[in-house]
Amino acid sequence: MAAKDGELTDPAIPAESTTVVVIGAGPAGLTVANLLRRCGVDCVVLECRTQAYVTQRQRAGIVETRAVRMFDAWGLADRVLGGVPSDGTLEFRVDGERHLVSDGDGSDGPQARICPQQVLVQKLMAAYLDDGGDLRFEAADVSLHDLTGDRPTVRYRDADGELRAIACAFVAGCDGDRGISRASVPDGVLTAHAFDHGIGWLTVLADTPPPPRPLLAVSRHGYAAHFSRGPHTSRYYLQCPPDDDPKAWTDPRVWEALRTRLGDPALPSGPITEREIFRLRSLVHDPMQYGRLHLVGDAAHIVSPMGGKGMNLALYDADLFARAVRDFVRDGDDGPLRTYSRRCLRRVWNDQEFSHWLTRTLHDAGDDTGAGSFHRGLARARLDRLFTSRAADGAFAELMAGLDPEASTAH
Ligand code: APR
Repeated sequence: MAAKDGELTDPAIPAESTTVVVIGAGPAGLTVANLLRRCGVDCVVLECRTQAYVTQRQRAGIVETRAVRMFDAWGLADRVLGGVPSDGTLEFRVDGERHLVSDGDGSDGPQARICPQQVLVQKLMAAYLDDGGDLRFEAADVSLHDLTGDRPTVRYRDADGELRAIACAFVAGCDGDRGISRASVPDGVLTAHAFDHGIGWLTVLADTPPPPRPLLAVSRHGYAAHFSRGPHTSRYYLQCPPDDDPKAWTDPRVWEALRTRLGDPALPSGPITEREIFRLRSLVHDPMQYGRLHLVGDAAHIVSPMGGKGMNLALYDADLFARAVRDFVRDGDDGPLRTYSRRCLRRVWNDQEFSHWLTRTLHDAGDDTGAGSFHRGLARARLDRLFTSRAADGAFAELMAGLDPEASTAH
């Protein structure tokens, strides 16, 4: 998206300057903004939606152990993490039979938290604004210019309809899969690695008692899950054809399917406040960088939801990006910025593999019509290994916690 010089120097457009312009105020953008402020780097966040929309949007629900420790290392854990600590176990229910599996790796230090995404977003926003952060909602027509030069410019129309321009040293593209940041990279620069799992999930939010721990169920009727989204709120998932009509899932049909698949005839029903069907898909863009633009979170990659890695990967990218900018601004060291994409992608592929493995295992194990009986046998063998082998459980817990040697990188 090349800009004409005349446009950028238009005296009618108020010109501002900052170190980093952050596009998008989701978990990725707000984390980048908070971390940059912690190390004294100035930034401006541009968000196209209203504050009310951003703070209410419901999505992920678990902040993995690695991410909790990341916020702790930045001195932000108490301010930005809500919810409750995870008790370190997951329940798998196979044909109604209970199996508890550890998802805590047993290491010292703060553990994963069951923290709905909108709670994290609200707290990140409050922390940033309380510290005097610059966050502009309803920023329309955002466009990025001169990304391969030393001084990119970001233009947008503010909430009053006025055109504005901000010159900066770096742009953090945190505007999700459909944002403007990745779309501003010329064709042929990024390679997209995409995968459609051919699986749909009906997702339902309801005012019902949450389960004591995350519950994932396998049966011949298909996959189902039950997670906490607060003291009186639950999120449920039901495997379904990806093109199914959510309206065909009436309340009685939802509760009957959940009781059957979770093997719990006494499961209480309650008011359903949200009902949606989405396709399970995965996507990686490589590299996650173009000139002075760095892609962070969903702008660079989508992970299928199994394993809860989408938001956690966004937090990982944000941490690496903020530290890399800090090192550049403070020490003139551009090494971490140059290796940003490579280091992020290592974890992205690690988590994609984990999520893919878990997705296949839990869907193939229950559905001998879709994947075939051979794959069903393989998936059941994987579950059996997880329930009986300490080594397999240990590897699973390490992946759930997000802990590997890279995670202990010093600040
Ligand atoms: N200009 C400004 N803001 C934009 C634009 C744009 N052109 N396009 C999108 N945005 C904003 C969206 O309104 C949203 O608030 O960018 C933000 C992107 O937020 P998310 O989609 O939540 O992406 P990210 O912050 O990377 O979230 C990471 O958490 O739960 C998961 O599914 C979620 O995996 C995602 C993850």
